[in-house]
Amino acid sequence: MEVDRRAFIASLGGVAAVNLMDHEAKAEALEHYMEDKLDEMVAAQQPEKFPTVAEIEAQITTRPYRRGAGSVFTGQRGENVKLIEPMPAKPTLNDFFRLRFAPANHVLQSATRAMKTGMSEEIILACLLHDCVLSLIKPDHGWWGAQLFEPYIPEKSAFAIRYHQTLRFYADDDAGYEYPDQYYRIFGHDYQPPQYIADTYKMLKNHKWYMEPRLVTVNDLYAFDPNAKVSIEPFQDIIGRHFKQPKEGLGYDNSSSAHMWRTLARPDNPL
Ligand SMILES: [Fe+2]
Ligand SMILES: [Fe+2]
Repeated sequence: MEVDRRAFIASLGGVAAVNLMDHEAKAEALEHYMEDKLDEMVAAQQPEKFPTVAEIEAQITTRPYRRGAGSVFTGQRGENVKLIEPMPAKPTLNDFFRLRFAPANHVLQSATRAMKTGMSEEIILACLLHDCVLSLIKPDHGWWGAQLFEPYIPEKSAFAIRYHQTLRFYADDDAGYEYPDQYYRIFGHDYQPPQYIADTYKMLKNHKWYMEPRLVTVNDLYAFDPNAKVSIEPFQDIIGRHFKQPKEGLGYDNSSSAHMWRTLARPDNPL
């Protein structure tokens, strides 16, 4: 085992403190230091212990909110919620990205990866939008997300958004998708998807568009890098070509999902 001399000396209180120690005390301190380091190294190699479904359920009553509430409705880590900037009168997708979906790192990383790996524009757009609805609501976010965007995007992109949620639960080695550790963490390691998800998966396996949502899951898996620098700018052309921005602004065009955009715009409304 290598000893980091600086860290070792600092752990004893600095050079001055070390100079006051006799030879035997120094040797003993080094031994303790190495034992502690070894314990740390062993601990770091233990596989992560994932919770059970029952343990996750036991956490429900420890929170003042439900986990399914969209992020615009909950404070961060028990803090009060913050004032949010009002939307412009005729909001665009870009306005929502800036004011309601931000920081949107995960979807931007996912779309960046899709672009780099040469996916179709429909898939890149689906990756860019696939989890945006989590600001509004979390359960069944594939279906909610597809509904939110459906009036404005290509059919294939909406299909990919709707069904990425289902395919996230099922590995596909050929496509390079494995079941995510994150799901062991948030659902429990013994979680089984409900019957409607299993039925949806069965339908998708034989669907001619299976690969559309599958490719969203492939780009989903690797898109949680906290250090990645991403922005929406590289996607402006694709948004321009494939997102039908309503001239009245999102929320005011009477589309089937206009009310969802209005709720995102004004989450503080009591009714
Ligand atoms: Fe998702
Ligand atoms: Fe995602």
